[in-house]
Amino acid sequence: MAIREILTVPDPRLRRKARPVKKVNKKIQALFDDMLETMRAAPGIGLAATQIGVDLRLIVLELPEDEEENPLAGQPIFMVNPELVSARGREEEQEGCLSVPGYVGYVERATEVTVQGLDRHGRPVRIDATGLLARAFQHEIDHLDGVLYVDRLKGPDKLYRIVEAEEEGEESGGEEPPAGL
Ligand code: NI
Repeated sequence: MAIREILTVPDPRLRRKARPVKKVNKKIQALFDDMLETMRAAPGIGLAATQIGVDLRLIVLELPEDEEENPLAGQPIFMVNPELVSARGREEEQEGCLSVPGYVGYVERATEVTVQGLDRHGRPVRIDATGLLARAFQHEIDHLDGVLYVDRLKGPDKLYRIVEAEEEGEESGGEEPPAGL
């Protein structure tokens, strides 16, 4: 496994539409291992292959274990060729991206989604996701289409720069920024 460089804006490779994976083989599995290690080191809770400059439809997600309401929390989810099958509800929430460091935005997304694709062994998989996991799937699938969350903001007032604790003073008590995706 190896930690890869995460591309950041305005790298044009983040704007490419990634190609579908034809065969899930050892190369793909090795890529997934690198993606997981890179995501954990960042640290983040989601990563698309596009973000490490790989032009293939692969995503990795891993919610923190304390996301108790989510049965898939604390375990990595690998998906090849993920597709949004259906989406329900709308909710505006804070979102951050490893490729847009230093910022968070309020982004409207579906609250519940069904996603299908292949797992890391090439077997078909279908996941019903809610809350943070649903948001993470939508964010990562966007990456595969060259779309960033900043494209989905309803206005410039929805984007905020993250103020570091030192700048703000220790008594800031500010809200933790969302985990990167
Ligand atoms: Ni992202």
